[in-house]
Amino acid sequence: MNGPDTTSRAVLAGSAYSDERHLAARQSLYSWQHPRHDLPGIVLEHLPTEAGVVLDVGCGNGKYVSRIRAHRPDLTVVGMDISAGILAGLAQPVVVADAAALPAADGCAAALLAMHMLYHVDDLNTTLSEIARVLGPGGTFIASTNARDDKKELDDLWASAAADVLGTDQGPPRISLSNRFALDDAPDRLQPYFTEIRVLELNGMITVTEPEPVIAHLASYRTWADSAGVPFNATLERAHQRLHELITRKGAFHIHCRGGILLCTRR
Ligand SMILES: C[S@@+](CC[C@H](N)C(=O)[O-])C[C@H]1O[C@@H](n2cnc3c(N)ncnc32)[C@H](O)[C@@H]1O
Repeated sequence: MNGPDTTSRAVLAGSAYSDERHLAARQSLYSWQHPRHDLPGIVLEHLPTEAGVVLDVGCGNGKYVSRIRAHRPDLTVVGMDISAGILAGLAQPVVVADAAALPAADGCAAALLAMHMLYHVDDLNTTLSEIARVLGPGGTFIASTNARDDKKELDDLWASAAADVLGTDQGPPRISLSNRFALDDAPDRLQPYFTEIRVLELNGMITVTEPEPVIAHLASYRTWADSAGVPFNATLERAHQRLHELITRKGAFHIHCRGGILLCTRR
């Protein structure tokens, strides 16, 4: 079994994020989270107060782009993503671009966002150097990601369902995207490029009383089904059954969420 390819342009732009479907299914699980965290609202609070250019790199379906444009018309917000398909529904200016080679002049941006995307870049140091180049000294950098033990209950559910399907004691683990740039060690990895690194931990609990939102979330990783080490659809079905039984018995299924936002200044 090959490991999942979570960084190549062909896989990201051609399948995982060829449109917003999978991302939206993943995002929608958070509507069952308490407390709810308004990430775009937090970003807005930490943007520079003066007019200038904000680049949202790996902007996806534009959750941050549209909110910042609505609340800060003095800022020019440019959405950038490696996938042309996911940018299709966003208003201009948007640019198809790789975070490792940004089509932007040195020091042109007052702020740059990389929200839940740095775990997809092939070489983190190349990308962070590129972000630092485009920001210029004193620029604001905001990133977000998840901790290693984020949504642990989903890992356990998937591994148990996979074990049932394979007839083994222990199933292969669920794919993790964020572990390549986990909140646990993100400050150390940012430290060579940025100063005043602050971590806002955004923890919460998702509670569902029906399996569907959880199964839609698990299904959103279908791009990497071939490297899951287990028949993907059969595992989803088994996870659905397990969840249905558990909710019938206990009334609800709880998932602990551990993520955060990193607020930084360019050195
Ligand atoms: C998990 S989504 C996050 C989307 C958005 N930032 C958010 O938080 O809602 C990751 C996004 O990063 C994009 N992406 C992945 N690798 C990239 C790269 N090297 N350069 C630019 N965008 C990339 C993907 O296409 C996808 O839209």
